[in-house]
Amino acid sequence: MLRLKRFVETRHRLFYTIGILMMICGGLSSCVYNSEEELMGMVEMPCEADSITYENHIAPILESRCTSCHSASFSQAGVALDSYESTLEEVSDYAENSLLYQVVATGDMPRNGPPLSDCEVQQIKSWIDAGAPRNFEEKITEQDSTVVADTSQTMEPSDTTTSNATVTYFDASVQPILQQHCLSCHNSSSPTAGVSFSTYQSTMNVVGATPEASLLYTEVESGSMPRNSAPLSPEEIQTIKKWIEDGAPESAQVSMQ
Ligand code: HEC
Ligand code: HEC
Repeated sequence: MLRLKRFVETRHRLFYTIGILMMICGGLSSCVYNSEEELMGMVEMPCEADSITYENHIAPILESRCTSCHSASFSQAGVALDSYESTLEEVSDYAENSLLYQVVATGDMPRNGPPLSDCEVQQIKSWIDAGAPRNFEEKITEQDSTVVADTSQTMEPSDTTTSNATVTYFDASVQPILQQHCLSCHNSSSPTAGVSFSTYQSTMNVVGATPEASLLYTEVESGSMPRNSAPLSPEEIQTIKKWIEDGAPESAQVSMQ
């Protein structure tokens, strides 16, 4: 156990050193390495795929790549990846049977972002196949029988928004804006950049937990979209922002159910 701990500490120290080097490198134009990738490439370590634990390896991956859309407070498709317990709901006995592995192995997730690295995918696989241990202490304990794949989840707007009279809804407020300004380039038959605003579901692919985590908002707020035409009015941008802050509900009808 002590050896493992020292090993982890050494790894942290190494990454810390690389981080400092990269910062120095970024600040000096005379730096010998002309890109971060080159520097990373030089010191790249073999992919660590043994002794993978939730706390040391998996949680950091999910935090940086998934929780913007999958958390307790904002769970796309009912999937929350911000706690050990809720992550286990997407994990089965083998990686191949686990939604968590399937979506990253196929590159389906993270949605609208670069796929995970081969090493990260491999680590998720090894972790699940080893019984999805939380940490080194739990690693040796027998496989948890409560670990079951749950594929029955459906997309639901967060229920904190249900009885609020001032909630902004997709069908009533946001869809008309998208139809008028965006649908010509982003529809289901021609989804430019993989983005379509034809349906609520396809629109949700570019919506995260907060406006800032949502390409839908950041693109119109910066004026980058709509491409080649006048930016949205401040009111329209505000409507999109408010809708995301309200939990991005689809319609008053759906929320009443
Ligand atoms: C930009 C938002 C976004 C990010 C980031 C994101 N997802 Fe998703 N995810 C979605 C949406 C939207 C859905 C539901 C619609 C769908 O399946 O097409 C979804 C669905 C899922 C599902 C359920 C799939 C199913 O078939 O029921 C899983 C599991 C999942 N995501 C895992 C992940 C993992 C793991 C990551 C990080 C590696 C991730 N997601 C990152 C938006 C995102
Ligand atoms: C005239 C065509 C056109 C219109 C209209 C348009 N877009 Fe786009 N959109 C593009 C193109 C081209 C790209 C991909 C290339 C790029 O990002 O420069 C894109 C990319 C995007 C992306 C993905 C950005 C990324 O980094 O992946 C989002 C989100 C987006 N548009 C949102 C919108 C929204 C919201 C509207 C309406 C307010 C809109 N677009 C209107 C052409 C258009």
